[in-house]
Amino acid sequence: MDGLINKQVVFFGGKGGVGKTTCSSAFSLYLSRKGYKTLVLSTDPAHSLGDIFETELGNEAVKLAENLYGIEIDPEIESKKYIDRIKKQMKGGFSPLIINEIEKQLDAAYHSPGAAEAAIFDKFIEIIDVVGREYDRVVFDTAPTGHTMRLLSLPELMGGWLDGIIKRRKDVNELFNMVSKVEKSLEERAREDPIIDILFKRKISFEKARTFLVDHKRAGFVFVLNPQRLPVIETEKAIGFLERYGIPVEGVIVNRVLPERVDSDFLMKRKEVEEKFLKQIEEKFGDRVLCTIPLMEYDISGYQSIDRIAAFFDGSV
Ligand SMILES: Nc1ncnc2c1ncn2[C@@H]1O[C@H](COP(=O)(O)OP(=O)(O)OP(=O)(O)O)[C@@H](O)[C@H]1O
Ligand SMILES: [Mg+2]
Repeated sequence: MDGLINKQVVFFGGKGGVGKTTCSSAFSLYLSRKGYKTLVLSTDPAHSLGDIFETELGNEAVKLAENLYGIEIDPEIESKKYIDRIKKQMKGGFSPLIINEIEKQLDAAYHSPGAAEAAIFDKFIEIIDVVGREYDRVVFDTAPTGHTMRLLSLPELMGGWLDGIIKRRKDVNELFNMVSKVEKSLEERAREDPIIDILFKRKISFEKARTFLVDHKRAGFVFVLNPQRLPVIETEKAIGFLERYGIPVEGVIVNRVLPERVDSDFLMKRKEVEEKFLKQIEEKFGDRVLCTIPLMEYDISGYQSIDRIAAFFDGSV
């Protein structure tokens, strides 16, 4: 394992409420203290990154500490920017009537399922372009598992889908070329089909994202889980899913583990239950466990408590 600290981009995933935001905040603060200029981003529509740092965050980077910057991606704003960008690219080469029709369809697409994911993905592509230049490290605080898995499978899904559309469009153009043999300008226009051009560019950017995601040297995925039944099951499934897509999984962080000694019968019983799942985690993930973080007696909010979590990364990432 190259070590989490050497990855340019690290994603924190996991089931709802297991501690993704806590761990990604702590890890990014840890990196910044080591001297890496770090950007921490939340792609979860229900943001809490700003809350934990007690700072208002938005679509533009806000300084959180020396060497540390934060962004909360707003899918609404990003979707709108995404659709506007496509609209702009579509202009030229079409009659106003067709443009009007395309715009109507794009406006509908803005409200369609998947638009927010596509927009977040566009932002992701924008971010991987600046990593290594503007920032040394980027840490993603992702949305609960299902949502993120869908997002990460986009390059594969979109790649195939775009190939299909491009091919159909080319077939139509060929037909068009045959009937327009005499009219040179029409033929030329078909060859320089702006839609194929746009689709092609999208395909290339998705490929770029995919190349980045599967690159062990640059990107890594970490799952946070708790010693409980559902987080263990969900993590096992998610790791399988990512590996099928060739996305490297660096390991798991076991969070909210009860301390060695507990002072009530109730907690003793809870600890027995927990032991069973810790054993399962050991069996299933064994050498993939990067570190174990105890359940603290307080909620994680503010730099001091984030730092206390970050201390557990020392020597293990
Ligand atoms: N080790 C810990 N000790 C005590 N409290 C913790 C610990 N880790 C996380 N918490 C608390 O658990 C709650 C959930 O944590 P967090 O918000 O990081 O989870 P999440 O996986 O990002 O949740 P969501 O899926 O809703 O985004 C928060 O109130 C946080 O303060
Ligand atoms: Mg969260």
